[in-house]
Amino acid sequence: MKILGLSFGTKNGNNDTMCRVALGAAKEMGAEIEFIHVFDWDIKYCSGCVACSRGLVMGKGMICTQKDDYSALYEKMSDADGVLIVDPIYESGGSGLFHVVCDRMGPGHDTGMLLMADGILKSKGEAGLDPKYFRQKAISFIGIGGSDWGVRVETDHAMLAMSPGWKVVNNEYFSWCKDIINQDDKVERMKEIGRNLVEAAQYLIDNNVMIAGSEDVDLWKGKEGACPHCHGNNFYITPGTTHCVCELCGLEGTLELVDGAFKFKNDPSIVPNGLVEHAHDIVSGKKMHGDDIFENESRLMNLNKDPEYKARKQAFTDIIAPTPAPGK
Ligand SMILES: Cc1cc2nc3c(=O)[nH]c(=O)nc-3n(C[C@H](O)[C@H](O)[C@H](O)COP(=O)(O)O)c2cc1C
Repeated sequence: MKILGLSFGTKNGNNDTMCRVALGAAKEMGAEIEFIHVFDWDIKYCSGCVACSRGLVMGKGMICTQKDDYSALYEKMSDADGVLIVDPIYESGGSGLFHVVCDRMGPGHDTGMLLMADGILKSKGEAGLDPKYFRQKAISFIGIGGSDWGVRVETDHAMLAMSPGWKVVNNEYFSWCKDIINQDDKVERMKEIGRNLVEAAQYLIDNNVMIAGSEDVDLWKGKEGACPHCHGNNFYITPGTTHCVCELCGLEGTLELVDGAFKFKNDPSIVPNGLVEHAHDIVSGKKMHGDDIFENESRLMNLNKDPEYKARKQAFTDIIAPTPAPGK
């Protein structure tokens, strides 16, 4: 079993150190461990070119126009049975580098899109994508903060697991942790999180769990979340209503008070977004999303050839040109 730890902090800082603590506990349980300090790798921004999603829906395979270390990083994650992300909290959420990795993960590595590409390739008599991309994986997230600003970070982090549809085991954050290596409860918790990840990964290996068909597999070992589907605790409340959307899995419904705690209740009458099958983290929801994107992209490709649409765009473009960057 392979457990891969990724730290997004400064070199040998708290995030690196806590990642190593959890990996050490995983190693004690017999796991093979690997550690990556992500800043050492050349990871460029997603340019927004959508070559990845177009490549997948056209059956061309996995394409990215950015030439850097991201695909090697993705391969490392794909080869692992469990992934641990340790990330400094910046502005109450995930770090900038973490967000870059998150953007690079989706849509080009979304399981729904990969399944579509695999099917198209095979229907053309070509080899499909490597089956390892369809194996289920356990993933845990830890945010480490220097203050008590951190309520957005769990949602930011779990988004990384949404595209591939990997199962989250633990997702939490630690506040006031500039001296975390002296806080024994947090160090102990990191070890526990490392051990939980090994146990979850072992379950996936023993049961040969694939991403498609694993909707009912729940490896969660954290506190019960308000969303019964994804354990999320952040909701977008539509202004002036009781209607809300789970910021993680996208299900729509209402928040209700049950035994003194808010619970999210998805509303199946809101079609399709109230239906559990539409949740962002499971293959059925991904397929629906993939179909919607395919339809939308095809419409846009046609619009781009339409003279009226082109003239309208040109008129807006003519309003102002961007200021060149200094030095260019
Ligand atoms: C740009 C920036 C923004 C930060 N914002 C927050 C924040 O919103 N909440 C918080 O708890 N800590 C915040 N911090 C503190 C970092 O989380 C802390 O420095 C980091 O966890 C240290 O990790 P390292 O030793 O691995 O680099 C911020 C730090 C920086 C540099």
